Amino acid sequence: MLKLTYLGHSGFVIATDGHQLVIDPFLTGNPVAKHTPADVQAGYVLVTHGHADHVGDAVPIAKANDALIIGPNDLAVKLGEEGVRSHGMGIGGQHQFPFGRMRLTPAFHDAGYEGGHPAGIVLELDGRRLYHAGDTGLFSDMKLLNGVIEPGIDIALLPIGDNYTMGIADAVIACTWLQPKVVVPMHYNTFPLIAADAAAFKRQAEAAVPGLTVLTPAPGEVFTV
Ligand code: NI
Ligand code: MN
Repeated sequence: MLKLTYLGHSGFVIATDGHQLVIDPFLTGNPVAKHTPADVQAGYVLVTHGHADHVGDAVPIAKANDALIIGPNDLAVKLGEEGVRSHGMGIGGQHQFPFGRMRLTPAFHDAGYEGGHPAGIVLELDGRRLYHAGDTGLFSDMKLLNGVIEPGIDIALLPIGDNYTMGIADAVIACTWLQPKVVVPMHYNTFPLIAADAAAFKRQAEAAVPGLTVLTPAPGEVFTV
């Protein structure tokens, strides 16, 4: 059982058996956030790319918790210059951390800093695989996560807000390719430009993938998967 807290936007706290991770902790300036950076306890801060709505409060949270920041290498180096411990990875690379295995995946998006590359994240935690797609459009190499380079994805966190990332229709296609057991939509309803109907996504995705459960937690909500 993994306990997740949805921070709003693309932010999640993940509690495993013994470790706390936070991904893309955008709280300060996030109009839907219910948490402050001081509320977040984590030993690891994972960032997908350099945009402010993803790096967010990563540095203050890492400083307050003496946490390790993990992300694309150029971004990890840049954040490391702000006085935090950081671990850089490259697309396709994997590493075994104390909390479990992490792989960086491609994401098709802007990096948010010069010369960088945005990423998605696959985590193997307590024997289950979770995919946080980051900010990305649909791309067919997502199929590789379902039985080629990964044995499959149990839990997928997918953007649905459109404009900057996949919208609902493309995210439903991603569900058919990934065949996860649980999907949580993200990167929507934070701002008017990325408004999306999560109930419509849930209906369409569950109709498209037999056995799929789509969870639509509200910002601040805790759920288990
Ligand atoms: Ni972005
Ligand atoms: Mn974003």
